[in-house]
Amino acid sequence: MSWILKLQERMWGIAPWDAAKISDEWFRAHFEYAADVVHHWMEGALDLKTARLLNFGCGDGITDLSLVLRHGATSIHGIDIRQEYAKLPRIAKEQLGMARIPSALTFETIQPGSALAGKRPQFDGIMSWSTFEHVQRDQLLPILKDLHACLRPGGVFFLQIEPLFYSPFGSHLRRYDDVPWHHLLADEDALWDIIQKHEGPIDAAEVDFGFADFGVDGYKKFVFKEYLALNRLTADELVEITAQAGFHVVRQERRHVDMPIPSELQGRYPDELLLNNEIFLLLGK
Ligand SMILES: C[S@@+](CC[C@H](N)C(=O)[O-])C[C@H]1O[C@@H](n2cnc3c(N)ncnc32)[C@H](O)[C@@H]1O
Repeated sequence: MSWILKLQERMWGIAPWDAAKISDEWFRAHFEYAADVVHHWMEGALDLKTARLLNFGCGDGITDLSLVLRHGATSIHGIDIRQEYAKLPRIAKEQLGMARIPSALTFETIQPGSALAGKRPQFDGIMSWSTFEHVQRDQLLPILKDLHACLRPGGVFFLQIEPLFYSPFGSHLRRYDDVPWHHLLADEDALWDIIQKHEGPIDAAEVDFGFADFGVDGYKKFVFKEYLALNRLTADELVEITAQAGFHVVRQERRHVDMPIPSELQGRYPDELLLNNEIFLLLGK
């Protein structure tokens, strides 16, 4: 398939696209915000126009598409344990009017934790957006060691997590439950009850393209299962594990919410843990 895309691109160039057609808020959040942040963090360390990039946990690939179209990336290999990226040609047609996705993008489905190193030349850069909080805890170190082996010496790895588990909406359930820190205050049955009883629309920026596959009730089950599987990683733990895997921190930023901590949680967890909702890490090898 990719050689056909390459040939078409050689003949006609990258298919025309028009950002004015964007109507989906999830698409917009990834095509604009996420891609701009990735670009901002990586551009000083890499030339995106020549770099070979790996996106670990690429999801539907919208961010990768934007990095190519808006930031000049020429090679991004997206990997994921699901196949949401298979929807990208349809999504790009709907949201941008693109007839075909750029040949700079390739995708691969893997089994959770399966090794990637040694299968292809080392990458110049790796990125991962809102993925590492979903990786099974016992697979974190092996996966990070494998990604370290996938990166060329001098390459960089940009990693973002939001929301971190102990922050107000760290459950990833906000689309159904707007009570801050509810997952640290209520038990699982109470949370599931709230989700089950939820009616009406959910924030469009939080509805991914998988929603249509699941339907309203199926999506509730999926989102709750994802919540139960979160690894509860803290920013400090993440930095520590990346160091164990051989990376060094080039730059990091931790963002915090400005919200009053409920009295029931005060003293139960450090304030820093409860207020830190996002981490951006630029790691070097
Ligand atoms: C919240 S989604 C984020 C997807 C994408 N980065 C985005 O911003 O839309 C988390 C992604 O991580 C993937 N994922 C979870 N565990 C993984 C693993 N062990 N290896 C690769 N991908 C994984 C999931 O399938 C999912 O696509």
